[in-house]
Amino acid sequence: MIEEVKLSKLEGEMPYDLLLLADESITAINRYIDQCEVYRVERKEETLGILAIQYLSERSVEIKNIAVRAEFQQQGIGKQCIDWLKDRCVQNGVEEILVGTGDASIGQLLFYQKCGFEVDSIRKSFFLNNYESPIYENGVQLKHMIVLKMELSG
Ligand code: ACO
Repeated sequence: MIEEVKLSKLEGEMPYDLLLLADESITAINRYIDQCEVYRVERKEETLGILAIQYLSERSVEIKNIAVRAEFQQQGIGKQCIDWLKDRCVQNGVEEILVGTGDASIGQLLFYQKCGFEVDSIRKSFFLNNYESPIYENGVQLKHMIVLKMELSG
């Protein structure tokens, strides 16, 4: 049985060390972080990770950044965060959760689908247009953003 994690809202100084686990560039993070609600993921006062979400409208939320520290990955913590967000969104009448990841980000694509997301659309050339330096994952340069969606029913 996995011990439950707690998510608590963060204000003020942002933990860039955690945000940078999910996004290569501080410049890119700074484009969205001020519009986000940011949550620290913790267990027994130990910080395990981070979750940043942005309301696109009353009915639509996008995960802009989610990260679990390397030593705690693959233990169900990321999925607990998605389940927590899903419950919270349902309670607040949100109808869909979106998340975007790289076209070569195989692990993340599997993770999101295992959490209940389905591929929805492609933001063409997102990584070419929004990052100063090329980003490689699994030996392939990221070009397009794959957007996945979870539809929520009340
Ligand atoms: N490859 C294949 N499957 C995976 C991977 C992976 N890299 N990561 C998780 N999964 C699977 C797990 O095996 C598990 O499957 P199961 O239900 O069959 O057992 C399921 O997904 C849930 O996995 P968790 O253990 O809950 O995932 P974890 O706690 O490791 O969190 C996360 C996943 C957030 C992607 C973490 O690996 C991480 O922080 N990675 C580095 C940062 C990152 O890439 N963040 C996402 C960038 S995109 C964005 O932020 C919008």
